[in-house]
Amino acid sequence: MATPNPSNTKLDLSGSLGKQLKPFELDFELDVSERQPTILIVDDLEINRRLLRAMLKAAPYRVLEARRPAEALTVLESEQVDLLILDLMMPEMSGLEFCHRIKSNRRTQLVPILMITSVQGIENEIAGIASGADEFLIKPLHPDVVRTRIRAMLRNKAAIDSLEEAETILFALAQAVEKRDKYTGDHCERLARYSVMLGSAMGLARWELVALHRGGFLHDIGKVSVPDAILFKKGSLTEEEWIVMRGHTVKGEEICRPMKTLAPVLPIIRSHHERWDGTGYPDGLKGEQIPLTARILQIADIFDALTTARPYKPAFSRAEALSTLDAEAARGWRDVELVSLFQECVHKLDKDEEPETPWASDLAQSLENMRQSLSR
Ligand SMILES: [Fe+2]
Repeated sequence: MATPNPSNTKLDLSGSLGKQLKPFELDFELDVSERQPTILIVDDLEINRRLLRAMLKAAPYRVLEARRPAEALTVLESEQVDLLILDLMMPEMSGLEFCHRIKSNRRTQLVPILMITSVQGIENEIAGIASGADEFLIKPLHPDVVRTRIRAMLRNKAAIDSLEEAETILFALAQAVEKRDKYTGDHCERLARYSVMLGSAMGLARWELVALHRGGFLHDIGKVSVPDAILFKKGSLTEEEWIVMRGHTVKGEEICRPMKTLAPVLPIIRSHHERWDGTGYPDGLKGEQIPLTARILQIADIFDALTTARPYKPAFSRAEALSTLDAEAARGWRDVELVSLFQECVHKLDKDEEPETPWASDLAQSLENMRQSLSR
């Protein structure tokens, strides 16, 4: 098991998680429009880099430089770059080769590339475009042309980024699905927060915590395909109806699959009804075959369902819910280690000690960005 995260930053998870935030308020990847566009110039000659930097001096861009392809790749690992400017002729790796590498990497393939060359000729242009360069400029460079071209390319990039907002629509749909069942109330919000709490205690990486948070809202989105007659049936379901109901896991994965940024959430959506002993669905996965994030969300889901009042049952106390989780672990349905770590986290909540959660300052900033963009 991973070691607990040593971060000292804290997120408010106290009490009954009473501070209810809207789903998008915790989405710290939706702040694209608030960022200053970042341009990376890749050129081995300092004079060329200085020239380009001078042309962009008055523009509101953050300009980074790399002398060689290897250096550029390192920068791309750690920075969110919105535009690459590179020279066709470079040491170690040609501009064409470098271009090809950028475009074949899923993480960087959407970064537009402006290729600059002093070599005239239609063959070069064709080769450049074939390797993935989005635009070509031939030296000598005219400052106004360079600036206009860059502006247009960045506008295009911003439009692509905004496609990601389609995610927000999916979240709204997921909320609508959840609200069909009026008794579940703010289940998703609490579930997202409990999951992140447990994921943080596991020391998971930030992208996994983001996936857990999103999974809290999206895990049951596939229920949109389950008819009300089945979803809200009072009596027990027939075998055929169970098949439809179980299908919400696979349907949910299908709905979210086209959204590339939701890739880390797909295992949660598909596998949140698997059981440690292999008796769950849809794939009958066993033990660690079940994705860790799905196991985490499942524990949070059960805990929240138990501690919330439903028409057919009162709200259990936290202690009662934890002992039910214990019983399910003993029966072979849940991951014993995870259940025990979750118990520790809940005991901290009981003592009003806030479990440590990383990136709290990022969340605060994201909230502020989102508030500002909504008030425009
Ligand atoms: Fe479900």
